[in-house]
Amino acid sequence: MTDMLKIIDLHAEAGEREILKGVNLTVKEGETAVLFGPNGSGKSTLMSTIMGYSTCKVTQGQILFKGEDITDLTVDQRAKKGIGMMMQRPPNIFGVKLGDLIKTASPIGEEVLKEADRFKMGNFLDREVNVGFSGGEIKRSELLQLTAQKPEFILLDEPESGVDLENIDLIGNKVHDLLYDGISCRGSVQRHVSSLVITHTGQILDYIGADCAYVMKNGRICCSGRPTDLLKEIKENGYGECGSCQTIKL
Ligand SMILES: Nc1ncnc2c1ncn2[C@@H]1O[C@H](COP(=O)(O)OP(=O)(O)O)[C@@H](O)[C@H]1O
Ligand SMILES: [Mg+2]
Repeated sequence: MTDMLKIIDLHAEAGEREILKGVNLTVKEGETAVLFGPNGSGKSTLMSTIMGYSTCKVTQGQILFKGEDITDLTVDQRAKKGIGMMMQRPPNIFGVKLGDLIKTASPIGEEVLKEADRFKMGNFLDREVNVGFSGGEIKRSELLQLTAQKPEFILLDEPESGVDLENIDLIGNKVHDLLYDGISCRGSVQRHVSSLVITHTGQILDYIGADCAYVMKNGRICCSGRPTDLLKEIKENGYGECGSCQTIKL
């Protein structure tokens, strides 16, 4: 399996403070990797840095996507190369309707909009993106957008956070579709997309069959292992003693 994403000694600043302090991480083609870590350890910053958001400034290291150095590319260039992200807290986009965004941003946008009801988003297409959306509605809207973008590599930042039990099932199944099959209207063959997923509860793991997991603490990856094993350890012992990471200061 080739490396889809390879992060080498990545240092990055946000708000003029070093948040990422030498991150090394690899996700292979077709692999789903999970990223655990306590609040404030830098997980969302890592995702935003991979996506290329301007709030995060790389000061050292490299981000390779399918072997190509994308460290200096803009966010739209990265999106065109096939990287997509479901943000933890996406911004409101005033004046832009969800349906228009999807239609104009993607060649298969029109087609995907026909599926909006399956995401319980049919009544939201005329609303401004994320404005007044509830937690679950934001996640479903993000997933609909990602389905239109059809990325080869997906960053999922806490896809289940703020989502009630009923919506978890819908979101879990749609994430599964994104990673494995795509939506039925594309009539596509099986397609296995790679991803990096942040989760605290592990609920999303029931839907996506993750391959490996990393733990981030204080801006570094401190250990890796099997997702279910690491999650069990973290639930039992907290982050202080998981795997081999006692050496990293919280
Ligand atoms: N734009 C920013 N300006 C200043 N500090 C930031 C900025 N973005 C993130 N941080 C800080 O970086 C740290 C890591 O944040 P974050 O990546 O969101 O952590 P996590 O997702 O692991 O909870 C936090 O202390 C947060 O306040
Ligand atoms: Mg976060």
